[in-house]
Order: sequence, then C-alpha cells, then structure tokens
Amino acid sequence: MSAKETISFRVINTDLAKATSDALVIAVAKSADGPVILDTPLSPATLTSLKASLSALGVTGAADQIVRLPGLPDTGAKILVLAGVGTVKGATVSEEALRRLAGATTRQLAGTNHVVFAVPTTAVTHVAALAEGAALGAYQYASMHTNTAAKQAPVSKVTIYSTLAKDPELAAALERASVVAKAVNATRTLVNEPPSKLFPATFADAARELSKGLPVKVTVFDEKKLLKDGWGGIMGVGQGSSRPPRMVKVEYKSERAVASLALVGKGITFDSGGISIKPGAGMVTMKCDMAGAAAVLNTVLAVAALGLPVNVTGWLCIAENMPSGTAIRPSDVLTILGGKTVEVLNTDAEGRLVMADGLVAASAEFPDVIIDVATLTGAQVVALGHRTAGVMGDEGVSAALKAAADRAGELVWPMPLPEELRPSLDSPVADMANIGERMGGMMTAAVFLQEFIGKGKDGETIPWAHLDIAGPAFNEGAPYGYTPKQGTGMAVRTLVSYVEDVVARSA
Ligand code: BES
Ligand code: MN
Ligand code: ZN
Repeated sequence: MSAKETISFRVINTDLAKATSDALVIAVAKSADGPVILDTPLSPATLTSLKASLSALGVTGAADQIVRLPGLPDTGAKILVLAGVGTVKGATVSEEALRRLAGATTRQLAGTNHVVFAVPTTAVTHVAALAEGAALGAYQYASMHTNTAAKQAPVSKVTIYSTLAKDPELAAALERASVVAKAVNATRTLVNEPPSKLFPATFADAARELSKGLPVKVTVFDEKKLLKDGWGGIMGVGQGSSRPPRMVKVEYKSERAVASLALVGKGITFDSGGISIKPGAGMVTMKCDMAGAAAVLNTVLAVAALGLPVNVTGWLCIAENMPSGTAIRPSDVLTILGGKTVEVLNTDAEGRLVMADGLVAASAEFPDVIIDVATLTGAQVVALGHRTAGVMGDEGVSAALKAAADRAGELVWPMPLPEELRPSLDSPVADMANIGERMGGMMTAAVFLQEFIGKGKDGETIPWAHLDIAGPAFNEGAPYGYTPKQGTGMAVRTLVSYVEDVVARSA
C-alpha cells in the first residue's frame, strides 16, 4: 500500500570538490541588509562572486525559496542551489528552520538523485534536523495519476557536510531522524489513501503490515467482538456503513519501562456526517478523519523501533460514518463501553463517540497517562487556524505536550476545559448528549471526552490530555517547508518527543 521510503544519509567533512553529487545546497538568510549567505565551505573567491550576484538573481533568503545555478568548479556538484531559511532569530539557525530548509529543498528538487547540504550545523541536533527535514520533504504519495511521464523521482541520497561528521552521537541521532520521518510519512500515506481503499478492515490490515518486524503486538477486534463486549460508541457510529468497524490495539512493551502510556486515536475512515449529513464542501477532505489513529499507530511503531524504555499501548478507534437505513438517527441513545449512555443529537459529532469507547478501554489498564489524538472539531480550525493543534486536559500533561511539540517543530497551543460547558451536554434521556455549547466547540468536545477518563490504581483520575488536530492533520493549501499537500503526519513528532521527554525525566 505505501511506497517504500528509501532515503540514505551520510555526513562528511571533506573537500566539497571531492564530493560528487547532483546538487550542492547552501543556505541564504533574509536580513534587513538583504540576503546573507550562511557559513559554507566554499572558497572566498566563489563566495565573493556569489554575493555580488544575489540581488540580480532575485535571491531573497525567504523560507521555501530555491534558486538553481550551474555547478561551481570548486564543488563536485552538477548544480548549486541557494535555499532560503528566512530571517534567522538568535545566534544560530534553529532546528526547525533547518528542518524546513532541508524539506523545502528535497521537495522542490524531486527528479534530482543525490543532494549535498553545506549549511551551518553547530550541534548534532542540527544535523539530525536536516536529515529529518530532507526525509519529510522527499515524501511522495504513490498517487493514481496516469501520466507517469510527469512524475519526478524523489531525492534518494542526502549527504550533509558538517564538522560534526565524527561525533559519536551522530549515528543514533540520524537513526532517530529516519525512524521519525518514516513514521510521519507512513501516517501521511494512510491519510492520503482514498476511503474506498482505506476502510476499517483495510486500516486494521495496514496496522498489521506496518508492524511487521517490530516488537509490537497487534490485536484486532472485529464487529462481532465489539458488539459482544459492548463497544457501543464505535458500533453505533459504524452501523450505517457496509464496512463494519474495527478496534485495533497496538502494544509495545519494554523490559526497562519507566512508564506506561496509552494513546487513543480517532479513526473515522470517512466522515460523511451520517444522517446529519455534511454539506458537499465540508465533506471533501473527510478521508483525513482517521489521522489521529494513523498518528497513534505510527507513534507506537516509532517508539518500538527506537526501543525506548516505556510501555505504550495505542488504541485505534476505527469506523466509517455513513448515512443509510441502518445508520444511527439523531435522538438514538448509545451505551458506551463501561455503561455510560449518550443521546446522539447530531450524528456528525461521531468522533467523540468512538473516542469514548477508546478512552474507557485505555483507562481500564491503569496507564500512567492517556493522550488522545483526533480530528475532532471544525471549531478547532476556527479557533487556531489550519496549522496549530489545540491541546486540552490535565495542565501538566498539556504543558509537557506543548514543550514536546515546540522541540519537534509542530504547532500546538493550550486551550482551557471550562467547567461551565458541562451542563450544555446534559440530555433529558441519557447521561449526556453528544453535542452541547456551539461557541468554543473544540472545548465542548474535550469536556465530553473528559467524562470517559477513568481512575488510576491510586483512585485519582488518570492524567490525560487531548490533541485536536482537525486543521493541521490535512493541508488543503500549497506545500511548504517539509509539509506536503493533503496528509501532514501531524502529532507523530510531538508524541515521539513527548515519550522521549518522559524517559529523560525519569533518568
Ligand atoms: N471530523 C469532523 C471535524 C473536522 C472538521 C475535522 C474539519 C477536520 C476538518 C467532526 O466529526 C465533526 O463533524 N464535528 C462537528 C461537530 C459538531 C456537529 C458538534 C463539527 O465540528 O462541525
Ligand atoms: Mn463528524
Ligand atoms: Zn469526524
């Protein structure tokens, strides 16, 4: 199903003239005094003549700008590429700026095989950021275009020039970069698949397939098991579809585990809205509604591949939300796993119903923390825009997720869980209704989810945070930096960084 991602990395610290390649990339920053070429091992004479030409070439140093020039005699590359990093804040270029520069470059240099980066790196994390960005930017979905002549093969070989080439920590950092990029790219592919190909049963198959060779256990609950065991949220949402729901549990256990984490993902393979059907324009992107589950799956796989000392269980709550004669109706009542009842007033508020089952199941195993990821509300996009995810829940967990996101280069912003929203979810016939106060609807949805977080072994409510990724999971606009059109792989990098932080804190 997914294209094999094969991009190789090498770090060198030799004369660039000896490094034969297709393209040599140097960085140009934007400044008040015009474009500035960042530290690169070209000869002073070359740099002087390049500097003199920058303005005439239209080089501004703006992020995402790529300008190609003929190769230079003092390098072994066929072309020279001037890549913009934008305005540099602080003494060194940030990891995220390097990631974006590398991604913007590999993305726009598709059709070029071997790319050498000769841009400033003052820490191993800088080299890793370049590698990660390059792998993310080289991503291509194996689309169904029939005109294959127009297809350009992705960059497959990346060499990074760095004085840190012999650093003992480099190998592990590069390995991490490639594991993380693979996880993000696999998430993108799952999101990009048309819903006729990726439906609950095939999503479960993909989970099994992607897990091959990794120390994880995949358990798939089919509709018979879900019905028998009382997963009323997932079964209710899925009952209108000819393609029955699945619950996929993905477990990774380490003998050295310092913590146990549960990740719960929304896996609506297509959200038509159900009987409360969406208008056409709102429905076209709804193959992305399983992005949370795809991110959770690939996070568990990345954590397993990195062998981190934690136990992580992913719960993928997978169903297709369709209208039909068997679909749930507005005013129907569902019984969520564990017994709570929910009156479904709007069948388009289906994500919280499948997540409720997942959160109850996750709680029953008493993890140290629960994090859920969901393309849950249009209100998230209204509040925070297309690129920033909302995080809600326990303050400590939310703050830790925000910090992890900052480090990973993903945009996440904390939002409150106002108590006064809870009564808006009261129902005259059940424990709760599935819709409440419309204003601040991202928070109303989170307040609904909160009701399904159980208590830990200590009798306290399990620490929990919820990521609403409705906007950032899917890029409807033009590609930028390392972010392609369509599926973005949002949340994988934040979650992997969060797990690493949990490990680091316990050391
Ligand atoms: N999957 C949607 C949310 C969504 C919207 C994701 C836009 C990505 C982009 C969700 O199931 C939904 O339909 N939510 C409703 C909830 C409402 C009925 C309370 C919404 O946001 O309109
Ligand atoms: Mn919906
Ligand atoms: Zn949805």
